[in-house]
Parts: sequence; C-alpha cells; structure tokens
Amino acid sequence: MQSIEVFRNEFITYLEKKIKLKEPKNLYEPIVYILGLGGKRLRPVLTLMTAEIFNTDYKKALDAALAVEVFHNFSLVHDDIMDDAPLRRGKSTVHEKWDINTGILSGDAMLINAYQLFENYDGHIFRGLAQLFSKTAIEVCEGQQYDVDFETRDDVSIPEYLKMIEYKTAVLVGAAMKMGAIIANVSEKEQNNIYDFGRYLGIAFQLQDDYLDAFGNPETFGKQVGGDIIENKKTFLYLKALEFSEVSETKELEHLFSIQPNDTTHKIETVKSIFIESGAAKETKKEIKLYTKKAFEVLDDLTISEDKKMMLRTFGEGLMQREV
Ligand code: IPE
Ligand code: IPE
Ligand code: MG
Ligand code: MG
Ligand code: MG
Repeated sequence: MQSIEVFRNEFITYLEKKIKLKEPKNLYEPIVYILGLGGKRLRPVLTLMTAEIFNTDYKKALDAALAVEVFHNFSLVHDDIMDDAPLRRGKSTVHEKWDINTGILSGDAMLINAYQLFENYDGHIFRGLAQLFSKTAIEVCEGQQYDVDFETRDDVSIPEYLKMIEYKTAVLVGAAMKMGAIIANVSEKEQNNIYDFGRYLGIAFQLQDDYLDAFGNPETFGKQVGGDIIENKKTFLYLKALEFSEVSETKELEHLFSIQPNDTTHKIETVKSIFIESGAAKETKKEIKLYTKKAFEVLDDLTISEDKKMMLRTFGEGLMQREV
C-alpha cells in the first residue's frame, strides 16, 4: 500500500501527461490553467487509494481519478462564476482572468472530457463508472441550485442545508471512492459502504469549507475570506447563529444577509463576531467532528485490514485539521 503522498504525486504526473494545451487556445488555456493551479487533489487520491484498499493496482484507477478531478475543476470554474469569486487557489479565477463566456465554455469542455476518460474502461466497469458519474453529476447540479436558491431565502432549515451540501459536495467524494471500488470489482455492499464513508467525510469537508470561508487565514486560504458572507450564503454557521442568538443579533444578522453593500468590511466583521459570540463557530466545529465520526463508524462494517482502516482514519483526521 502506497502512502497518500505517493498517490498524489503519481496522480499529478499522470495529469500533466494527459492535460495538454492545444487549439483553440482560448478554450484550452483556462483548462490547463485551472488544473495546473494545484489544489489538494483529495478526490483523485481517494479514488487511487480505494482501488488499492481493495487489492487492485492504483494504476488501473488513474483515468477515473483524472475524470473526477477534471469534473471537480469544471464545477469550480462554474461555481466561481455563480459565486462571483475573484480568487481560487491564491490566483485569479478563470472568469476574472479571461471572461464569463470563456469560463462557461471551458467548463463545458472539461465536463465532456471527464466523461471521455471513462471510455478507457471496458464492459461492466465502464457501465458502472458512467452510471455513477451521471447520477453524481446531476446531484451536484441540484446541490448547486439549492445553494443559489438559499441565498435569497430566509427560512432555510438545518436539514435543508445538510441536504444541499450532501449534493453539491459530499456525493462526489463518495463517488470518487466508489469508483475505486468499482474498478477493484468488489461486491456492491462494499462499494456502497465506501461510498457512505466518503459521503459522510464529504459533509464534514463542506462544513469545514464553510468554517474556513469565514475564519481562514487570508494569507494562506487561497480564496476570498468572507466570500460566503458577501454572497449571503446560508451556511451552518449562519443558521446556528440565528438559532443561538438573542433577538437583537438575529435581527441584525437577517438584515445584513438581505443587503449587498459596496463596502463589505463592516458586514464581514459584524457577522463573524456574531458567529463567534453566539457559539455558532464552536457548534460548527462539533458538527465537523460528528460527521467525521459517522464516516469512521462506517468502517466497522468493512472487511479490510486494520492498517487500511487506519489510513482512511488518518486521511479523515487530516481533513479536520486543514487550513486550506
Ligand atoms: C473546493 O474543493 C470546493 C468544495 C467542494 C468545498 P477543494 O477544497 O477540494 O478544492 P481544491 O481542489 O483543493 O482547490
Ligand atoms: C462548491 O461549494 C461546491 C461545488 C463546486 C460543486 P463552495 O462554493 O462553497 O466552494 P468554494 O468555497 O467556492 O471552493
Ligand atoms: Mg464557491
Ligand atoms: Mg458555491
Ligand atoms: Mg466554500
């Protein structure tokens, strides 16, 4: 079993070999750009790791891992347009560096490229991967639509929020792992088990993403800190702050989340202090731990060796500690 670092490096080498600049430049340059900006490469690492966990050479899973990463980056290019985000991985977003139309079309091409990568698999493995991918991709769209719809709603509930992040983020983490299991040809029970592990980890991951969006270090975070506050995103932090606050803070929060001021400094600072004072920030940390624990509990039913389970736990613990 290789280490996480080896999987990451092998994946990057493969990506650099496969993702090449060609004509027309304005279509492919943004693709090479966004995929070259790095990022944590979590999802492809999970695909490779899962194949190996189920006793299959990770090399067989490289095309699926690349498909997952290309799809993820497609979703980020479009997400940054939708969220009006200036920064990604410490650099200009595609629509800022080029323009919105470029972001739309390069994103579309990446989505199609992701599908094409499954053509490298045969028979029932191809079918399994393509089916899972289509189901997951449509759920991501549904999650993204809920996310946008919630910006202008003032009655979003916690269960609705959890469903939204499960769809926009967690199902892809689950699918990344299940693809490794499909390639390894293991039983459906094991495939679904590892999917659930990834899905719970993905929910914890998005909660942490929301937390860092408010409280990350602007020097290292790589995205605009406070972006969710500017965009009136109904995050776990926000919903818990409403639940835990006194009436005067609740009113202020609701007011701040109904406006789009030119100068956002005051809005961001006020909202962040309500997130802390109300206990919402602490509660979010607790929820991250809870979903990570749920993921670990799924491992009890998996028939893999204890050191492989340990590797998955280490990965999950690492996500909780992350700052980017
Ligand atoms: C960002 O994903 C989008 C979310 C689903 C939160 P990552 O945090 O995995 O982004 P990169 O690929 O590491 O930049
Ligand atoms: C992104 O959620 C989910 C998808 C891209 C599908 P966010 O909007 O929170 O992701 P970031 O914070 O921009 O990376
Ligand atoms: Mg975003
Ligand atoms: Mg978004
Ligand atoms: Mg975010």
